[in-house]
Amino acid sequence: MLAFTLNGEPAEGAPPEGASLLHLLRGSLGLSGPRFGCGEEQCGACMVLLDGRPGYACTLPAEAAAGRAVTTVEGLGTPEAPHPLQAAFLAEQAGQCGFCLSGILISAAALLQANPDPDEAAIRAALEPHLCRCGSHNRILRAVQRAASMMRAAP
Ligand code: FES
Ligand code: FES
Repeated sequence: MLAFTLNGEPAEGAPPEGASLLHLLRGSLGLSGPRFGCGEEQCGACMVLLDGRPGYACTLPAEAAAGRAVTTVEGLGTPEAPHPLQAAFLAEQAGQCGFCLSGILISAAALLQANPDPDEAAIRAALEPHLCRCGSHNRILRAVQRAASMMRAAP
């Protein structure tokens, strides 16, 4: 049995031999936030935080989570108490189909944790692993800038 912390709560799983972390999260743990896009570190749709750092859940073996803290988009905020990024993405209407956004929110959260005042180049670099097939890149950029401002202004 694999034990780890998932979105701040203790979690356990019994992944099949060779299963990815994404398989475990979306399968028996029932989280639909991390998405399967390409399965080969090319789109970023599966991104999660592992001990606070972004990682591709599609290629990470499930065992990599043992004893560590995994955060998915479900752990960032709730509809009642959204993370500033989630609020900013809504305000900027920064998405169309939304398929890419779970992963983008995760990488953006890691960026703002490390750098509360990123310039445009830093945001672009942090989101470089992510594809948005809807072409919402400019609105996504504005949303991250808005979230950073909101977080800096928060008491
Ligand atoms: S599904 Fe993991 S990078 Fe595309
Ligand atoms: S909003 Fe559709 S892929 Fe990004």
